[in-house]
Amino acid sequence: MVFTLKINGKPHEVDVDGDTPLLWVLRDVLGMTGTKFGCGQALCGACTVHVDGQPVRSCQTLVDSVGDSAVTTIEAIGQAPQGAALQKAWLELEVAQCGYCQSGQIMSAAALLKDTPKPTDNDIDAAMSGNVCRCGTYQRIRAAIRHAAGV
Ligand code: FES
Ligand code: FES
Repeated sequence: MVFTLKINGKPHEVDVDGDTPLLWVLRDVLGMTGTKFGCGQALCGACTVHVDGQPVRSCQTLVDSVGDSAVTTIEAIGQAPQGAALQKAWLELEVAQCGYCQSGQIMSAAALLKDTPKPTDNDIDAAMSGNVCRCGTYQRIRAAIRHAAGV
């Protein structure tokens, strides 16, 4: 079935089964490989994208549930002020180790700062609790979010 998805502000036509996870549409059909596959079970956060501004696990978001909603991926998060500030902070604080989890981390952090521009440590911990980093960069991630938020 053909779906027209609004991704990063542009329409994309894809011909896939309706029960295809959004993650595979992004990566395999559209070649947007910034969004990562980790667990495939909504447990690690590596596949996080925004749907209408809310962070979702694209591995568990079926394409026929997306409808007209606006999807934002790591490829375009730098166009939003929060995303740009986070990417700058990530570089300045050298957050990434292997880097695999980091696009999902930034997507969760960007959703946090959009709703809560001056987050507390508890806000940060709550928003980021679903994003796993096997390299253990959690302290630098928290510091970078605080840096980007100016708190
Ligand atoms: S790959 Fe989706 S949450 Fe792990
Ligand atoms: S930087 Fe390696 S998994 Fe997070």
